[in-house]
Amino acid sequence: MKIGFSEKSSSDVQVFLVAENGTLKAAAQALDTASGGLLGEALKAGAFSGKVGQSVSVVLPASASARRAVLIGYGAASRDARTLERIGGELYKALANSGFSALDLNDLDAADAPRIALGVMLAAYRFDTYHTQLKADQKPSLTSVTLIVPDGEQARQDFVPLEAAAAGTYLARDLVNMAPNDLYPESYARRLEGLSEHGLEVEILGEAALAKLGMNAMLGVGQGSVRDSQLGIMKWMGGDPDQDPVVLVGKGVCFDTGGVSLKPGAGMEEMRGDMGGSAAVAGAMLALARRKAKVNVVGLVGLVENMPDGNAIRPGDVLTSASGQTIEVQNTDAEGRLVLCDVLWYAQEHFKPRAIVDLATLTGAIVIGLGHHHAGLFCNDDGLANALTAAGLDEGERVWRLPLGPEYDRLLKSKFADMRNIGGRAAGSITAAQFLQRFIRDGVKWAHIDIAGVAWVEGEKAVTDPSWASGFGPRLLDRWIADTYED
Ligand code: BES
Ligand code: MN
Ligand code: ZN
Repeated sequence: MKIGFSEKSSSDVQVFLVAENGTLKAAAQALDTASGGLLGEALKAGAFSGKVGQSVSVVLPASASARRAVLIGYGAASRDARTLERIGGELYKALANSGFSALDLNDLDAADAPRIALGVMLAAYRFDTYHTQLKADQKPSLTSVTLIVPDGEQARQDFVPLEAAAAGTYLARDLVNMAPNDLYPESYARRLEGLSEHGLEVEILGEAALAKLGMNAMLGVGQGSVRDSQLGIMKWMGGDPDQDPVVLVGKGVCFDTGGVSLKPGAGMEEMRGDMGGSAAVAGAMLALARRKAKVNVVGLVGLVENMPDGNAIRPGDVLTSASGQTIEVQNTDAEGRLVLCDVLWYAQEHFKPRAIVDLATLTGAIVIGLGHHHAGLFCNDDGLANALTAAGLDEGERVWRLPLGPEYDRLLKSKFADMRNIGGRAAGSITAAQFLQRFIRDGVKWAHIDIAGVAWVEGEKAVTDPSWASGFGPRLLDRWIADTYED
């Protein structure tokens, strides 16, 4: 989707935003007058009240300056960011398959333009990579939206950070949507290397390097797979060179069968999305690079495939993590924490993080607890927790804080090793977070975001979230970093 901002309108399709009071603003008024009152008639005949989600389309006579006029509901006077994004999304939906490729959007308040444009972008996402037989009418015709504003240059500048965030969301969605035979640790690593074209420094460590680092918990997860495990390291150094970085960590289980503790067959294909945390990190890194953020951020992703195999880890195996702590594997399906514990350790050994935020599709229990509308937040620092919560509200990627505490930590006690990798039935998302916290050194600010319920959603969704994968994370992380570290 090409988004443009212009002072002058020229397209054959003229779209007008009309608020709930129903009065046409300047541009619509002018066309209404020129067309002998056609737009006013359409409002009445179309039972149009200006509510967000409504639209009326008017075919114009040959004498008119455009071929089609479309009225879109602009809602009530005070519009928050979500409503503006939705308006952009509804606008896209109304015209996506209209047969027209370009439109001009008129009569919007200039301050609303960037958010509406973001809504158009988010709604226009498609994942058709594997469809080879789509007919022309199954593909959207609309490829270009121009927002008419008093100062096009200003609007273009204001849109840069939102466009960057949208690019991050697109990348995260693509990665989660991709088939697991297509996106596996090594192909994923190649894809990350491609991000260097945006100015990111990307380094990949393979199994030999990970073994040298003692990352045996992460390697243990991958050892049943014919695919080699990979650690992806992405750096955006846009800040002062001697400023310590913020570190983002992502779970990148490219496919989670559960391993020897095999998952049930029904719905297992969804576990293609078990790399959603790593996709959020990659998307955030891309967003930072695209808007040339003035801050240093490192993104680390642990890429593995969890398979049952003669060489796979067994329940009962004891793994020695990079931190030196030993882990009794009681369930090979609790693999995400085994990956993350080594990557979190790597983050603290190799950097002095101002804060670490990890994202992971870690537990089914968070889906039971919070459903699909909030991710779970676990955090050892109130300031960090509050900042992430605020950023999530601002960008519509909401997090909800849950507790940590020694009573939960005790549930990880093992007879045979320093800890076991499951806690038991109670508080499954919290014991997973407690497990991770055992690898965070005193004084390091850390947050864990369990995105198992929000990384992908089946069924009813917002217009701005059109594919299976939601692309949750990049906008939240980008906003948190901008508001906390760049002023
Ligand atoms: N990847 C899953 C968690 C998950 C579940 C993500 C549903 C998205 C949707 C994770 O690796 C897992 O299997 N967790 C287990 C942990 C249990 C064995 C302690 C779970 O939640 O059942
Ligand atoms: Mn699992
Ligand atoms: Zn998993």
